[in-house]
Amino acid sequence: MATIGLVFGTDTGNTEEVGGKIAEALRNYGYIVEMVNISEASPEVLLSYPFLILGIPTWDFGGIQEDWEDFESTLLALDLSNRVVALYGLGDQRGYGDYFVDAMGWLHERVAQVGAQIIGRWSTEGYKFSASLAANDDLSEFCGLAIDEDQQFELTDSRVNTWVAQIVDEFEQLAVAL
Ligand SMILES: Cc1cc2nc3c(=O)[nH]c(=O)nc-3n(C[C@H](O)[C@H](O)[C@H](O)COP(=O)(O)O)c2cc1C
Repeated sequence: MATIGLVFGTDTGNTEEVGGKIAEALRNYGYIVEMVNISEASPEVLLSYPFLILGIPTWDFGGIQEDWEDFESTLLALDLSNRVVALYGLGDQRGYGDYFVDAMGWLHERVAQVGAQIIGRWSTEGYKFSASLAANDDLSEFCGLAIDEDQQFELTDSRVNTWVAQIVDEFEQLAVAL
């Protein structure tokens, strides 16, 4: 079974903690998961995984977590055209409802630009926000899993488990073609 790279950036630890939950859920399906902090990642490390899960929190009114921001030019120089990527983003829908998980939208745009096959879209049902760069035009779907440890921490475990089941399914359908 393929080894999965779970690459995250974090300022206060939430995105790492949620990454740990995602990794644990994936291990229950028999996957080997390696967690990598983006501040220590290199192009070689990222390219060594056929399946990547990328995690990013949003800071300061739609701002990009700084280690991810530092990695932007390296990311844009990668060729991810034969890689499968799923995204998750951390945010606070009540405190920052006009910018909810914006950074996940930023990352989605760049990962798509370098050719990755992106899976793991997620319904916005159950969230309350006004705008998000990570959502589609009618605000019905996010481009990846949105997690709110500030307002809805009690929903995190079930959201993670449901989303992991979904991406395992999507990944297994694609893995044949990789
Ligand atoms: C000063 C500040 C600014 C924030 N700005 C945003 C924002 O613009 N959008 C959002 O969705 N969440 C925002 N958040 C919430 C964080 O994304 C959230 O707390 C997240 O879990 C932090 O993840 P980390 O611990 O991995 O850094 C902000 C939080 C703080 C304290």
